[in-house]
Amino acid sequence: MITDTMIFLQLVLTTPWQGDDPTPLCHPVLPRLERILNHLCIIKEHTLLRLITEGFPACWDPQVSIKDLHFDGVPVRIYLPRKPSASKQRGVVFIHGGCGIFGSIRTYERVCRYIARKSDSVVVSVGYRLAPEHKYPTQTLECLTATEHFLKTAETYGVDPARVIVCGDSVGGTFTTSVCQELGQRIDIPKIRAQVLIYPFLQALNFNLPSHQKNAAVAFLTRERTVHFILKYLDKDCSLKEPILAGSHVPENINLKYRKWINPDLIPDVFKMGYKPPLPALFSPQTHKEVPELFEPWVSPLLAEDAVICGLPDTCIVTCEHDVLRDDGLLYKKRLEDNNTRVTWHHVEKGFHCSLGFFGYGIFSFPSSSTIMNHVVDFIKGY
Ligand SMILES: *[C@@H]1O[C@H](CO)[C@@H](O)[C@H](O)[C@H]1NC(C)=O
Repeated sequence: MITDTMIFLQLVLTTPWQGDDPTPLCHPVLPRLERILNHLCIIKEHTLLRLITEGFPACWDPQVSIKDLHFDGVPVRIYLPRKPSASKQRGVVFIHGGCGIFGSIRTYERVCRYIARKSDSVVVSVGYRLAPEHKYPTQTLECLTATEHFLKTAETYGVDPARVIVCGDSVGGTFTTSVCQELGQRIDIPKIRAQVLIYPFLQALNFNLPSHQKNAAVAFLTRERTVHFILKYLDKDCSLKEPILAGSHVPENINLKYRKWINPDLIPDVFKMGYKPPLPALFSPQTHKEVPELFEPWVSPLLAEDAVICGLPDTCIVTCEHDVLRDDGLLYKKRLEDNNTRVTWHHVEKGFHCSLGFFGYGIFSFPSSSTIMNHVVDFIKGY
């Protein structure tokens, strides 16, 4: 997700950071730089982020043939293994992260090629249009459109429609599971075979779970930046950040209703070391009224009804220890298991949010980038 320029900046701004400890990466300069540029109106924050996450172009790939297409109007890039295949192949729809406001097909070029090569699958990377120019839920709708189109036309690309997997990281994981929740209810198109959720964002009700508390200041995605980005994504006033962080946007009846799914008590003890329950938040009807989207399943897939969860395909969830969103993944895992969905779970001890974005960048890659990538490829190869 965060590549070249970011790596360069990190290199310049930080003390030794190779290895797998994200703490030295936690540098206040970049957000501050963004803020200054933003205030000066030189460049918008999301414009800068788009720029630095574009990445270097990758070289020609002898093993994968690459084409840019449109699926019902949605830009996609398709990666076809050149090696001839006797039978129909597996398909993988890849939905990139970047909070819905940055990131692109190009950002994940190396990731998609690797999946195509190593798992011998036809990969479709979805270039959904970004917020805030294209308002929520354009992003989810375009991911749905592209996936549906691929399921219907799979055979054109030599793909078996019964072997299509959807995979995404961060908010791409949110979109992935929304696609699976929606299409799981449909009987007129082939069923998605499996979903892969790499450190997904899954709920906007509680930002005081143990992982939020523990990793509040960890690199790339702090607790504050999480809410800041959600507000940007939904094109809301960023002054809502503080009350949302405190939980003031959630009325008591909603808290009671969803306690069975979003609750620190559901997090295993090993992940709760040092956790202190926060003081109860004072409800602010004003804040609640401003952000109704936070309670919709397309922003908070953890709130989907049981009937929807029961329709989900086999699932692989990757969580990282140094990630504010770790507990979103853990809570979703529990929900899926309670509703008899098969879950393969990989917890990456040294991983952090955005690890995958460094994959394929040689010495700038992290060991956890490869760990995540290989867990994903191994899971995909099982279908
Ligand atoms: C789904 O999980 C909930 C617990 O979250 C449980 O009460 C319910 O019975 C489950 N439904 C099915 C069909 O497994």
